[in-house]
Amino acid sequence: MVDALSFSLDGQTTLVTGASRGIGEAIARAFAHRGAKVVLVSRKQDALDAVAVSINEAAGEERAIAIACHTGKPEAVAALFDAVRSRLGRLDVLVNNAAANPYFGPAIAIDDKAFDFTVEVNVKGYFRMSQQAARLMIEQGAGSIINVASVAGISPGEGMVVYSMTKAAVISMTQGLAKELGPRGVRVNAIAPGLVETKFASALIDNPQIHQTWIDATPLRRHGQPNEIAGAAVYLASEASSFTTGAVLVCDGGATV
Ligand SMILES: NC(=O)c1ccc[n+]([C@@H]2O[C@H](COP(=O)([O-])OP(=O)(O)OC[C@H]3O[C@@H](n4cnc5c(N)ncnc54)[C@H](OP(=O)(O)O)[C@@H]3O)[C@@H](O)[C@H]2O)c1
Repeated sequence: MVDALSFSLDGQTTLVTGASRGIGEAIARAFAHRGAKVVLVSRKQDALDAVAVSINEAAGEERAIAIACHTGKPEAVAALFDAVRSRLGRLDVLVNNAAANPYFGPAIAIDDKAFDFTVEVNVKGYFRMSQQAARLMIEQGAGSIINVASVAGISPGEGMVVYSMTKAAVISMTQGLAKELGPRGVRVNAIAPGLVETKFASALIDNPQIHQTWIDATPLRRHGQPNEIAGAAVYLASEASSFTTGAVLVCDGGATV
């Protein structure tokens, strides 16, 4: 009889980007519910403060702290990690989740500004955050980095070619960093959500034709909710996934099957 490994995050220090709403908020709440301290990150301090108050009230103690940061800006990411080092002193789990998709339409018409912004946040942002976190985790000899990618990184979406390219890059980044950081005790995995009901996906969900096409192609015949992605993050953050690195956990109702 082998003991089951724990899904608990008791005493873990975690950081979730894009935690003011949607999938990031659901992951942050799930982490705090399992005992973790969570640094909530997005660009808007007010929105983060509201989530932190609600998490701390539910926990009956301070589990969440809110730090505003634009993850596409290198100087802001450096300042964020200065604050993490000085206020918390360690980081066990990083969830790169904040992403941008400023353009929906034919790839031949996207301009450089939208292209560059998508890459800055989705690729360079995830990468710089991972570099900073990995430095801390290597010092500690352990850590888990979780990248929220997308099924669009596996099968590109029409009208979302550049966004899909960045999500494919996130999957490659995950696999490459898993190889480099595994020997130093740091695991790196990705989650690839399908269609999930958030502000981000409202352009797809609010368009009856696009929504129906998606639902028809999804064996579970519905879109997902943010808390249906959070369990995958809890698994990849916890001891339960201790032998898992470089994986892409698809949570899409079966859409890519
Ligand atoms: N929803 C879906 O169907 C779906 C499907 C596949 C993958 N995903 C992925 O899931 C992740 C979360 O998306 P979501 O659907 O939960 O979106 P959402 O509800 O729109 O939330 C996005 C979050 O990211 C923050 N954010 C955006 N840009 C940021 C930046 N530059 N710096 C820091 N924070 C930033 C937003 O807060 P502020 O505006 O305050 O900064 C917000 O907290 C993304 O990586 C997305 O690609 C979503």
